[in-house]
Amino acid sequence: CGIIGYVGQREVISILLNGLKHLEYRGYDSAGIAVDEDGTMKTFRKTGKITGLDTLCKGHHGQSYRGIGHTRWATHGAPSETNAHPHLDCQRRIAVVHNGIIENYRQLRKELEESGHVFLSETDSEVIAHLLEGEGTPFERIQKAVKRLQGSYALCVLFLDELNTLYGVRMFNPLIMGISEGECFLASDLPAFLDTTRKAIYLEDGEVARITPTSWEVKDFSGKSKTSKTITSIPWDPLTAEKGGYKHFMLKEIHEQPQALEDTILGRVDGITGQVRFDELENFSLETVERVIITACGTACHAGMIGKYSIEHLAKVPVEVEYASEFRYRQPLLNEKTLVICISQSGETADTLAAARLAKDSHARVLSICNSMGTSLTRIADWTLYTRAGIEIGVASTKAFTCQLAVLFLLALYLAQQRKTIENECILYQVQFLLTLPRQMNELLKISDHIHELAREYYLYHDFLYLGRGVCYPLALEGALKLKEISYLHAEGLSAGEMKHGPIALIEPDVISVVLLGRGITGVKTLANIEEIKARKGKVIVISHPEHLEVIPPVEKLLVIPETSEFLAPLLLIIPLQLFAYYVALEKGSDIDQPRNLAKSVTVE
Ligand code: G6P
Repeated sequence: CGIIGYVGQREVISILLNGLKHLEYRGYDSAGIAVDEDGTMKTFRKTGKITGLDTLCKGHHGQSYRGIGHTRWATHGAPSETNAHPHLDCQRRIAVVHNGIIENYRQLRKELEESGHVFLSETDSEVIAHLLEGEGTPFERIQKAVKRLQGSYALCVLFLDELNTLYGVRMFNPLIMGISEGECFLASDLPAFLDTTRKAIYLEDGEVARITPTSWEVKDFSGKSKTSKTITSIPWDPLTAEKGGYKHFMLKEIHEQPQALEDTILGRVDGITGQVRFDELENFSLETVERVIITACGTACHAGMIGKYSIEHLAKVPVEVEYASEFRYRQPLLNEKTLVICISQSGETADTLAAARLAKDSHARVLSICNSMGTSLTRIADWTLYTRAGIEIGVASTKAFTCQLAVLFLLALYLAQQRKTIENECILYQVQFLLTLPRQMNELLKISDHIHELAREYYLYHDFLYLGRGVCYPLALEGALKLKEISYLHAEGLSAGEMKHGPIALIEPDVISVVLLGRGITGVKTLANIEEIKARKGKVIVISHPEHLEVIPPVEKLLVIPETSEFLAPLLLIIPLQLFAYYVALEKGSDIDQPRNLAKSVTVE
């Protein structure tokens, strides 16, 4: 979910709606706002996207200068108008928007109902508004309420009785203040206010912010003022959050990859000596590290699975990769000799944050690879390497993924240099390929129309298998994920070597296999899969490194990437996979930037 609060001198409804549109990637099954209109609480709620709420508010002509808003990704209670936020107390004097999950809400609700509170929704969030009723100053009431709440929450609270003020509360979900002349914001993420101000203050867990048009103050839950809070200047340009002539953010972001990659590499590698430099890794030494664990969710985890190959091969350190949602509950064996690498585009994914905290508590060292500055993950981690992909809006991750791959690859080289595990010549060979990648990606993007044609041919099929070995196995998982996320088709990523142990039973003329042939032996070994599928009359699309061209048997479609190294091939192979997923979804008419049931940033478990 995305939340926003505004207090200032401008008419609030349009500001909240504009902010919510920029937060819509966090959830879009319903939305709502509450504003203080001359001392009365006015609310608007609507199922579906923000445009619906926008239309609902159009006819309203009242004047108000403070309010809160919410765009929802349903956890408790179906997407409906009554379950949409904001939620109010019985007297309609307090309004709350909530991102997170209140784990003990059933018990709290029962207690509150027994003492006469009337609930209107099925949500966990509504208990918060009721808990805030009662005696004391707004801050005292918040203090009392948070003592009762278990779970995770970021809140914006509007108390009608305290003029010109809003409160923000954070516990395990992101909340940022935006500071401008005569106005202040609270929001889940920067794009909500980036077109007004780039001055931001990040709240920590256990903090409460009180904002007015001209002041802000942060206290911890015990009431102690946090005087050390600093204003961060955000370098992102608000224009990057616009579509810039592309039909969808996803397509724009696919095309931004060469630039994003160049930005991510910039200043981190010397093209002549091959030396890799990470200024961020001060005091970092691998000497005592015995093993590396990479943990993340979704696409970021696929990047980690690919990174494992280059780190193990080049730096000779054992690497395990695990979904953060599994890692966090497995009681993994960790100590100060373990390096845990957490990868996240948003830096706010709940499972990844929990994994990072667990690692810290177990005395492991935590390195984050993150795209969003100053986010929770970067504050937990001992070190952070930023991917410099810029804001990514499309729910299906594209440019963040390729930048994660680039950082992991640079890290592998960096560790190899530290540990002196490979010859300089080998490093130079890899670096030269890395530096030519942005140009090669640009070349490859020119086949966009061609892939659109391919998508037109195949979008009516229902089953797609993606196959690969070595680095192409996790890439197959990513290719399949892209297709299912946005086109809602059944797509499975498989290890090509495992085909014969079961999945081959699925092959028939209506099943499309997308076979990925990377460089080297794993590519060669995957050729046999093509023969096996063809022998069973399955249809095959091959995306291949040029080295196999002479030996690929006749297939329905063959696409070739430019020449590169084994570990870098995924950065090129992924381009046709992303474009294919995009154009299939386009032909199917699905909502590409905001696919059903998904959210870009999953800040709940
Ligand atoms: C969600 C998104 C995925 C993303 C995953 C991890 O599920 O829909 O696209 O890969 O979260 O997000 P993160 O921000 O941690 O990279």
